[in-house]
Amino acid sequence: MSTVNTMRAISQDDLGGPEVLKEVQVPRPEPRTNEVLVRVRAAGVNPTDWKHRATGGFLGKPPFVLGWDVSGVVEAVGIGVARFKPGDEVFGMLSYPFGHGSHAEYVSAPARWFAHKPASIDHTEAGALPLVSLTAWQALVEYADLQPGQRVLIHAAAGGVGHVAVQIAKARGAYVIGTASAGKHDFLRGIGVDEAIDYRETEFTEAVKDVDVVLDTIGGETSTRSLRVLRPGGIVVSILPIGSDEFHEEAERLGVRSLRMLVDASHSGMEAIAALVEAGKLSATIAGTFPLADAAEAHALGDTGRTTGKLVLTVD
Ligand SMILES: NC(=O)c1ccc[n+]([C@@H]2O[C@H](COP(=O)([O-])OP(=O)(O)OC[C@H]3O[C@@H](n4cnc5c(N)ncnc54)[C@H](OP(=O)(O)O)[C@@H]3O)[C@@H](O)[C@H]2O)c1
Repeated sequence: MSTVNTMRAISQDDLGGPEVLKEVQVPRPEPRTNEVLVRVRAAGVNPTDWKHRATGGFLGKPPFVLGWDVSGVVEAVGIGVARFKPGDEVFGMLSYPFGHGSHAEYVSAPARWFAHKPASIDHTEAGALPLVSLTAWQALVEYADLQPGQRVLIHAAAGGVGHVAVQIAKARGAYVIGTASAGKHDFLRGIGVDEAIDYRETEFTEAVKDVDVVLDTIGGETSTRSLRVLRPGGIVVSILPIGSDEFHEEAERLGVRSLRMLVDASHSGMEAIAALVEAGKLSATIAGTFPLADAAEAHALGDTGRTTGKLVLTVD
């Protein structure tokens, strides 16, 4: 039970497995200038959450509260906020990586990181979408400039990023090839994949060619091998931001492009995502929902690397 000045949050004092996560009481934030205080109703859990839990990643030593996805209700606004008012339903992604902290009852953050939640979806779905959709939007649209009729290969097309990337690519009029284990191919076809590849049985470099854009969600050797399926001038956008120079050197040798990126908080990106949702072209598949207090269970499931769609924490 929280008092008016405190709130529940999921924090950790140590790095490690899901068991390091614990519910704590922390001061409830106040909205500063240009910020909205959002009462969190749902927040996605992403691989970056379980990676930071285990390694500290960009954040270093705990304690810290993880979580970048938010869907909720504006509780109060700081001076200067013109876009939203108390009671508005909003969704957004906190600035990556240092704006973290949505796995809590409230979060205060710049208003420009949010958009109005589409009325057609509930908070659970809205809380699942921001980080993965912004990642896919920035990779496919902003960096790769994906055009109608182009061929795109999406690795891990059933995953959190992959399943929204497929829908964004289809909305752009692209021909979509996706990789997943065979049991997920019906799911892939259901979200619009034109060609599904079982990466466990088939070497994708043998099965795919003349691709304009690859979305690499795997990293390592997959980044470099993906360059081989491109047509001249094509691009691999890798969302694994750290890797060997060989990726870029090989791209230069082959006359193709290579790029590594990190997702960035964005109001215009959130507006674009909201528009796709409202047009019925983008939805989130929910792999599981967990009350905030059970965040460790969500992390444990995510840690398997086998989920289809998104894991979401819900906050009463
Ligand atoms: N740079 C950025 O800003 C950014 C943003 C978002 C995510 N990421 C990173 O991108 C990666 C993917 O994120 P996510 O949210 O999509 O993860 P996720 O939801 O946990 O991905 C799970 C999916 O990956 C599939 N998979 C695992 N290994 C595969 C392989 N070798 N080939 C094809 N599919 C495979 C699994 O399908 P099967 O069960 O069929 O194997 C499962 O459906 C993570 O490493 C994450 O940290 C980076």
